[in-house]
Amino acid sequence: MKCGIAKEKVEEYSGDALISLQYEDGPLIKGKLAGVVDRARKKGGFKAEKNEIFQIFPCYEIKAERLILVGLGKKKKSTLEDIRKAAGIAVKAVQNQKRVAFLPIGNPKETIPVMVEGSILGNYRFDQLKSEKKEIMLGEISFFQDNIRISESRIDEAGILAEGTCIARDFANLPANLLTPRKLAEEAVRLGKKNNIKTTILNEPDLKRLKMGALLAVGQGSQNRPRLVVWEYNGGRKNSAPLVFVGKGVTFDSGGLSIKPVQGMEVMKGDMGGAAAVISMMPILGRLKPRINVVGITPLVENLPSGQAYRPGDVLTASNGKTIEVISTDAEGRLILSDALVYAGRYKPKYVIDIATLTGACMVALGIHIAGGIMGTDQRLVELLIAAGERSGERLWQLPLWDDYRPLLNTTSADMKNSGGKWGGAITAAKFLSEFAEDYRWAHIDMAGMDNQENDHPYQIKGMTGWGVRLLSRFALSQAGRK
Ligand code: BES
Ligand code: MN
Ligand code: ZN
Repeated sequence: MKCGIAKEKVEEYSGDALISLQYEDGPLIKGKLAGVVDRARKKGGFKAEKNEIFQIFPCYEIKAERLILVGLGKKKKSTLEDIRKAAGIAVKAVQNQKRVAFLPIGNPKETIPVMVEGSILGNYRFDQLKSEKKEIMLGEISFFQDNIRISESRIDEAGILAEGTCIARDFANLPANLLTPRKLAEEAVRLGKKNNIKTTILNEPDLKRLKMGALLAVGQGSQNRPRLVVWEYNGGRKNSAPLVFVGKGVTFDSGGLSIKPVQGMEVMKGDMGGAAAVISMMPILGRLKPRINVVGITPLVENLPSGQAYRPGDVLTASNGKTIEVISTDAEGRLILSDALVYAGRYKPKYVIDIATLTGACMVALGIHIAGGIMGTDQRLVELLIAAGERSGERLWQLPLWDDYRPLLNTTSADMKNSGGKWGGAITAAKFLSEFAEDYRWAHIDMAGMDNQENDHPYQIKGMTGWGVRLLSRFALSQAGRK
């Protein structure tokens, strides 16, 4: 999708449609279109309520064939996320058009980037596995700006972040028979090569040499053997401490021997949403080239029951020597992350952030599609991530990580058990992870409720969301001094 600044006059724009986002309480469009919008409001019944869409076709006052109005609701209550959503709604209505343009709204420096994001995300389809594909004609979106000017590089940046999100959506939407740990690792190498980022695959013998007993145990039930993918982006000075991102990559989570109920199990093909987000940062870093060092670490496994599978009661030894009693083989995410977090320590990182579809408890606490959970051992890092979340529209809400939760993981058989039970499940999971993230400043993002969208959403269709890519990228860019 080509996105850029509109060069011509509004009346002379020769594309297929003009789109104007409108507040319930104005201000209205200036110039020739004022009368048209006025008529739509007074006679057409367009109220500019949130998510309301209104088409004027044909529209004789402009060269473009049609004018599309999208409501934003009351101006005072409207946020940049609402503008992102409205752009998504508009784009879904013009996918059979070739060229469209958005009229200016608010401060274009703020609104154009979010309109770019909403447009590209709203235009996403996952039809690579369908024999008949719905044709999308839309190829070019232009943005009119008022007297305030925005640079094209800002538009490109927003586009690159949204495209990265679409890559993560593709990964998460691909089913587990097509996207095994091996395949995902190969895709990561392909993305690394394309973007000049060094990507390494660690196979089972490497994992054994590194004594990653927790990761190996989760992977042992499946014929699709585990991998650990590591990539290193070096945009900063040679000795500057990197940011390390660790993403949970369970290509399918059946629960293992502690098997999950039938209902909704298919959604667990998306249990690699954290890894997808981390891997999908590569094209973003490769294209935007921030002056910073970044490492991505993704443990990749399939969690299946079988004659070889790990069992409840097993005691595992992770790569830092700590022992873990398995209570539930369905609490596998924290096990694979534990070895990955230990591995992160070798980079002497500035910060380590892990992101994972980790607990149903986090969904119970924060709901779905509102906010991911965040916990950490460094309050400044947590706050920086929360700010990146506000900025990107991928919001976070902090839960406590008090030591009072630690006894819930106590067991007589090992240093800790892998489940603290039902109460405070998101926190005890994080508490578990903290045992392996001791040597650096660390935060953990639980994105369990953010991964899968049950219904259509303004800039998203039913399916996997690619959540986290924009959040992590915004954080990395801000760490590189890019505001
Ligand atoms: N992948 C799941 C968490 C999940 C649930 C993600 C729903 C997305 C949607 C995770 O591996 C899991 O099964 N967690 C268990 C932990 C429990 C056994 C301690 C859970 O949340 O029930
Ligand atoms: Mn599980
Ligand atoms: Zn899982």
